[in-house]
Amino acid sequence: MMTNKVALLSARDMRRSILAGFINAASVVCGIIPFFYIVTMLDLLAQKQPLAAILPQCGIIALLLVAKAVFYGLGLAVTHRLAFSTLADIRGRLIDHMERLSLAGMEKRKSGELAHIVNHEVEQVELFLAHALPELLIASIIPVAIIGFMYTVFQPFAFIYAVQIPLLVLYTMWYMKDYAPKFDEYYQRTSRMSSDLMEYIAGIRVIKVCNTGKGKTRQLLEQMRDYIVWVKRVTRLIILPRFVQSFIIACGMFLIAVVGTEYLLDNVIQFKTFVIGIIFAGFFGESLSKLLVYTFRVMKFNASRKAILSVLTIPPRTWQETEVPVTGGDIQFSAVSFTYEDKSVLENISFTVRKNTMAALVGISGSGKTTIGKLINGFLLPDAGTVTINGIATTALPEAAIARLVSYVQQDAFLFNTSVYENILIGNPDATEKEVYKAARQAQIHNFIQSLPDGYNTQVGEGGSRLSGGERQRIALARMILKDAPIIILDEATSSLDSQNEQAVEEAIAAAGAGKTRIVITHRLDTVSHADKIIVVDKGCIIDQGLHGELLTRCRHYNQMVAARYAADHWTVREKQPC
Ligand SMILES: Nc1ncnc2c1ncn2[C@@H]1O[C@H](COP(=O)(O)OP(=O)(O)OP(=O)(O)O)[C@@H](O)[C@H]1O
Ligand SMILES: [Mg+2]
Repeated sequence: MMTNKVALLSARDMRRSILAGFINAASVVCGIIPFFYIVTMLDLLAQKQPLAAILPQCGIIALLLVAKAVFYGLGLAVTHRLAFSTLADIRGRLIDHMERLSLAGMEKRKSGELAHIVNHEVEQVELFLAHALPELLIASIIPVAIIGFMYTVFQPFAFIYAVQIPLLVLYTMWYMKDYAPKFDEYYQRTSRMSSDLMEYIAGIRVIKVCNTGKGKTRQLLEQMRDYIVWVKRVTRLIILPRFVQSFIIACGMFLIAVVGTEYLLDNVIQFKTFVIGIIFAGFFGESLSKLLVYTFRVMKFNASRKAILSVLTIPPRTWQETEVPVTGGDIQFSAVSFTYEDKSVLENISFTVRKNTMAALVGISGSGKTTIGKLINGFLLPDAGTVTINGIATTALPEAAIARLVSYVQQDAFLFNTSVYENILIGNPDATEKEVYKAARQAQIHNFIQSLPDGYNTQVGEGGSRLSGGERQRIALARMILKDAPIIILDEATSSLDSQNEQAVEEAIAAAGAGKTRIVITHRLDTVSHADKIIVVDKGCIIDQGLHGELLTRCRHYNQMVAARYAADHWTVREKQPC
């Protein structure tokens, strides 16, 4: 099992980032030292020294400024190259890992949450590597360099600089103790706010259509207002510490000015040393302030790191790499229970579907039919009991084998944003053009595709949005026919079709399904009355199973469903009689 030993950044990445930090620090040092030479130059000018004495100072300043620019460019190139390659690497690792996770593991995480981690949290790593880490290094190196330099120029000044560091470290450690848990809460609230916003934007059409826009918008605005009030309250918590930190830094500069003036008046130091002490106190204070700002960025990075690792440490599914026959289609559920998070959906269900037979799963909405379908095709794994295909538990079957054994046409047929042809070909990438057309013909969609402006090359739009629900379903059916798996699961697969098309597609499915195990999930009981087995699901339990005739005589729940279906199919609209 993988544990939290998984490292987000490799030792190489860290080394490169530190190297980039040193290059950047060299650039900053080359930008600071000229001030020393400028002051020396001014001093020489004040002493009316000849130009020949001043020129070397000018040369050194010019050289240092060129070096500063070179190091700056080099640092920028190294940090950004490193940051973007790490960004791509982490995204790649996440996607690669998600692919190796069981579908069941993925199914239990919100897709919005995963998208947020892959997009937003990974960006934070780039910000950390390209900006925060080098800046932190610079902000740590500069004060040490200044103290060291000042030690050679005038030791009391070096001592005044140095004394600020333990004071600031101790104070920061003390207030961080209370601030860290608040930061975790800040981070969670911010993530929630961002996913609520994403959900609102994604669902804006539904909100408008349902005319609940004002209510939803008001709700979202209230959430945002609450969030802002909370953030303001938390930010107030750092105002005092920031003030104290700035006060300590300002005291350092003030001390240099006062003590320096004393020494200057007593002729202990030259004016030049006094000015250098003051200028460097400014750089020193600025670096310390940056150091404090970037500790916050480090906390932010840590939170993102945890979120990314929460995905990377989900143990991937493992199975023995044995050859599994991908023919035959016996399915068996033995005392299977399944729970979504804390909601128990299936309890102790057992049934068998023999190969080459047709079973229908019927039951009211929410009874657990789709969940049973997802347990067969490995989207979900049982919490208790076993689901077997041809006698092998789905937990032991490689996902690729399940994929070859089972075709699943879902309630909402999902199409990729590519051509109609590519969407059908997904069923069997090795299929010939002829086979694709044949599958489309069987699914009653060939003529429609040919009537499109670009025929089979027509792009279907995001999720198939340029097609109607019925067209999407028929393309998904064509994909399934092309795949030619021994088990097919049709989950309300014809629910978006009008009755004329439905009948044609039903016939096509019957033809394509011959010699296969068929599991049909439907509300339309008339279409499954001829099934070899009808399984009646209610509130996550199987309350009966048998032939249509048998169930009619003994299962009250089934009878009620048949009666309700009959009433729904035979309802009429009476015209209002004139008074
Ligand atoms: N990802 C999920 N997380 C939590 N609960 C879920 C999830 N998916 C389904 N459920 C719940 O599990 C129960 C069974 O859902 P399922 O989709 O299996 O029902 P169904 O019989 O297929 O219904 P329908 O006929 O409406 O399609 C429902 O109460 C549903 O709310
Ligand atoms: Mg369903």
